[in-house]
Amino acid sequence: MRILSGIQPSGALHLGNYFGMMKPAIDLQDKGEAFYFIADYHSMTSLFDPKQRRQNVLEVALDFLACGLDPKKSVFFRQSDVPEVTELAWILSTVTPMGLLERATSYKDKIAKGISPNHGLFAYPVLMAADILIYDSNVVPVGQDQKQHAEMTRDIAAKFNEQYGETFVIPEPQIRSATAKVPGTDGEKMSKSYGNTIEIFGEEKALRKKVMAIKMDSRTPEEPKPDAGQNLALQLLKLVAPAEAAHDFEARLRAGGLGYGDLKKGLFEHYWNYFAGARAKRAELASNLDHVHEILREGAAKARGLARQVLHRARVASGL
Ligand code: ADP
Ligand code: TRP
Repeated sequence: MRILSGIQPSGALHLGNYFGMMKPAIDLQDKGEAFYFIADYHSMTSLFDPKQRRQNVLEVALDFLACGLDPKKSVFFRQSDVPEVTELAWILSTVTPMGLLERATSYKDKIAKGISPNHGLFAYPVLMAADILIYDSNVVPVGQDQKQHAEMTRDIAAKFNEQYGETFVIPEPQIRSATAKVPGTDGEKMSKSYGNTIEIFGEEKALRKKVMAIKMDSRTPEEPKPDAGQNLALQLLKLVAPAEAAHDFEARLRAGGLGYGDLKKGLFEHYWNYFAGARAKRAELASNLDHVHEILREGAAKARGLARQVLHRARVASGL
């Protein structure tokens, strides 16, 4: 079974990215042959600073490796190191109906927000389909927000197969539900674009401040909280604390007597400990960037070998 997923190099990793995407992806590397890549071509649809892009790619690589991606188990690479994917994107674009792309909600949302779209943004799902199909991927783990894109890949693959004969493996999207939506410090979905994130790697003091600023209601510590399950800090604590400790915090919140300040302090301690190993690993990796570049180079060579074969199949099938 081949598993494939990608992440855009769009900024500092936060709890939502980690529990929604990175951790499930890393857990899957024991379940099959995993291909994970950094989607730098995709980042070009909305990030226009070359220095920033190069820096972000490196940061994501460090994040992924520090969090447990094992380059001996998974093929880890940068999307643009396999330029064959852009040729496949062109080929696929010729069997992709305009109407399919016009229905993409993520595109429509961006337009509604006032972003003036470039053609790359409109064609984004076609490049994503090429990413997936060029590795004969069977399973594509993505967050809820990418479900429609993953389904469009199936439609595009089926169209090509219908037009030119069986060429592509039809992939199955795998939508993660347990942590499908990690809440941010304001209770909305945690997202870089909402300024409500808690980063995984960063300066302790600033991160402690963010945790202590999580929005709470004005009830006194003594008051019992039968709705403890809805408490934002507790929800986050459950992600990073051992089950027993989380249970204890919840019981104390329900019974009354636990102040929100103490709850958030507890959250910070557990969160800080949870990532202690990853933090140390990241510092070690950052001190040997040659090694990181080498991992990406090796990953690209493996990915490229496979991509060439599948692209060749598509070229032959379509008469190129
Ligand atoms: P952001 O919303 O911060 O810009 P991205 O859109 O770059 O994050 O998402 C990168 C990955 O992290 C995607 O797979 C996405 O599904 C996942 N993700 C982002 N935010 C959350 C969240 N709050 N809860 C769960 N998963 C998330
Ligand atoms: N669009 C995805 C995101 O923003 C990243 C991505 C690009 C991707 N190509 C992919 C994810 C292929 C899965 C498979 O999160």
